[in-house]
Amino acid sequence: MKEFQISTTVKECTYDELSASDRELVDKAKEATRGSYAPYSHFKVGAAILMADGSIVTGANQENAAYPSGLCAERTAAFYASSRHPGMEMRKIAIAAATALHKPEGLPEEEYFQNMPISPCGACRQALLEYENLYGDIEVILYGRDSIFIFPSIKSLLPFSFTEF
Ligand code: THU
Repeated sequence: MKEFQISTTVKECTYDELSASDRELVDKAKEATRGSYAPYSHFKVGAAILMADGSIVTGANQENAAYPSGLCAERTAAFYASSRHPGMEMRKIAIAAATALHKPEGLPEEEYFQNMPISPCGACRQALLEYENLYGDIEVILYGRDSIFIFPSIKSLLPFSFTEF
């Protein structure tokens, strides 16, 4: 029996070490958390996608009383991006998550963002992979206050994916 390894090179940095354009994308993902509708989980997620024409499309998670009917921030953003700009390459996606809905008096907004990045769920990886396979690699920037992880592509987050039938 043979064995082989699957490996991914992940970059780790702080917000200050990002390029100005990546900081802007992360800022848009953080801003997008304000559009979250998360009365059940109280977990607000924002995603910002940099399109090939330089525009940025954002989305936030939307929950529902029938829980599985809700949608993650990443798919909200990606489906809107593809609807708004059919056939256009998605170059990068930044994702940020905040943990509380109510801000106690005096606590700065920044305190609500997660210290460590969150990573997109399997269904979002699968949905994003479809656009990546059509238009080219989508870099993934996962924001955390202490650390930011950068993955080179969606397929690096979803090896051995289902791609065709
Ligand atoms: N969620 C996202 O929007 N993106 C992720 O990457 C993980 C989870 C949402 C779904 C649900 O509204 C809430 O976060 C808690 O799972």
